[in-house]
Amino acid sequence: MKFLGKPRSPTAAFLPLCLLSLKILQPGHSHLYSNRYAGDKVIRLIPNTKDEAYALKKMYHHLKVDLWQPSSISYISEGTVTDVHIPQNGSRALLAFLQETNIQYKILIEDLQKALEKGSSLPTQRSRRSPSGYNYEVYHSLEEIQNWMRHLNKTHSGLIHMFSIGKSYEGRSLFVLKLGRRSRAYKRGVWIDCGIHAREWIGPAFCQWFVKEALLTYRSDPTMRKMLNHLYFYIMPVFNVDGYHFSWTNDRFWRKTRSRNSRFRCHGVDANRNWRVKWCDEGASMHPCDDTYCGPFPESEPEVKAVANFLRKHRKHIRAYLSFHAYAQMLLYPYSYKYATIPNFSCVESAAHNAVNALRSVHGVQYRYGPASSTLYVSSGSSMDWAYKTGIPYTFAFELRDTGHFGFLLPEMLIKPTCMETMLAVKNITMHLLKKCP
Ligand SMILES: *[C@@H]1O[C@H](CO)[C@@H](O)[C@H](O)[C@H]1NC(C)=O
Ligand SMILES: *[C@@H]1O[C@H](CO)[C@@H](O)[C@H](O)[C@H]1NC(C)=O
Ligand SMILES: *[C@@H]1O[C@H](CO)[C@@H](O)[C@H](O)[C@H]1NC(C)=O
Ligand SMILES: *[C@@H]1O[C@H](CO)[C@@H](O)[C@H](O)[C@H]1NC(C)=O
Ligand SMILES: [Zn+2]
Repeated sequence: MKFLGKPRSPTAAFLPLCLLSLKILQPGHSHLYSNRYAGDKVIRLIPNTKDEAYALKKMYHHLKVDLWQPSSISYISEGTVTDVHIPQNGSRALLAFLQETNIQYKILIEDLQKALEKGSSLPTQRSRRSPSGYNYEVYHSLEEIQNWMRHLNKTHSGLIHMFSIGKSYEGRSLFVLKLGRRSRAYKRGVWIDCGIHAREWIGPAFCQWFVKEALLTYRSDPTMRKMLNHLYFYIMPVFNVDGYHFSWTNDRFWRKTRSRNSRFRCHGVDANRNWRVKWCDEGASMHPCDDTYCGPFPESEPEVKAVANFLRKHRKHIRAYLSFHAYAQMLLYPYSYKYATIPNFSCVESAAHNAVNALRSVHGVQYRYGPASSTLYVSSGSSMDWAYKTGIPYTFAFELRDTGHFGFLLPEMLIKPTCMETMLAVKNITMHLLKKCP
């Protein structure tokens, strides 16, 4: 399996991909994204009283900052750690406001443009291929990821089958990899999706890492062999393909899909608020310009509908649903839409407990875990709650690194440690499935 990812002629197959990504990243010799984030800041605010939280919300509507955390202004109350991205021309007003109100704050990123350019590798490093032929320690554009999938479909047809479950709003194929040793015997399935939210780039990087590790260690690692022999993994490396593409070409911090709205100029729906489970209730917005917009109706987004159809069709044999997000360092399970614990809570709870311990054993990174509602915040219409309600007993959402130091701009240097530790957590959850717990 040394040849994983190595095309028959590596240079021929991968050089064009490298050039393609350079074209996106380096328009001429100018800055990434036309230098649009120059002088922008990311600031962490912590309102300590009700009055401060109220003032912060008012300021938000006035200044139109971009919220990094939490995802909606409605979540802000006393004590809420709030990370905002403020454009250069707004930072003076924001700092004045902070001095006036005495709200506790800390500048996380002084110059977003510089941080963005520093975190991504130099063109020379991008094209530097690892000995195995494909560099898993850089972020890849959608085209690169899809070509990688096609390539694996050809070279690893014994373990991988690539298929499409539909088309995105802008007409892109929604590709899934079915991974596992083919068998005529009945096998249970595990669904894994990454990149529901476009700007959370570490997600797709992890999905790619997972596939790489599976192929690379299938023969040598008994745990992996057991996983691939007894289960099928359905892996969707980029769920929100249109949004992900847009986050490479136009707006690095885009979150939603790219669908158009007939009455508003704002694009997109939050693909993690668009599912038919307490749809558009608490923690979702009805306004098309908000980042947590639930959409005009449940499953309005073709991407959500395609995945929902697939999971509905296969719900009898898919036993786990895992969804990858960033950033917060949390492992979450239902419910998201209400404060309550699920039936058979203890099984899911112990799976999460063990997974988080396994994760920590690699680099000492701490994850919190628990029901999404009480651990992160209440949100309705999420994929995880929907999958659970549809009959998949183990459903989890990971919020990967970090806790705000780099936020969405997790540097490529941290892809490897993040994926290595997450890998152990996923293996641990998967092995749990193969045991007695219902
Ligand atoms: C800041 O600049 C943007 C576009 O460059 C503009 O739309 C916005 O109105 C400006 N805001 C302020 C407070 O000047
Ligand atoms: C994957 O490979 C199989 C043949 O092994 C082919 O039938 C299928 O169309 C390929 N999938 C895609 C999406 O190209
Ligand atoms: C809870 O566990 C019992 C067996 O221990 C099982 O029969 C039941 O279906 C489970 N319920 C859910 C919602 O998973
Ligand atoms: C899962 O994690 C637990 C707790 O850290 C550990 O005891 C167990 O061996 C792990 N299982 C696997 C398969 O990694
Ligand atoms: Zn997310």
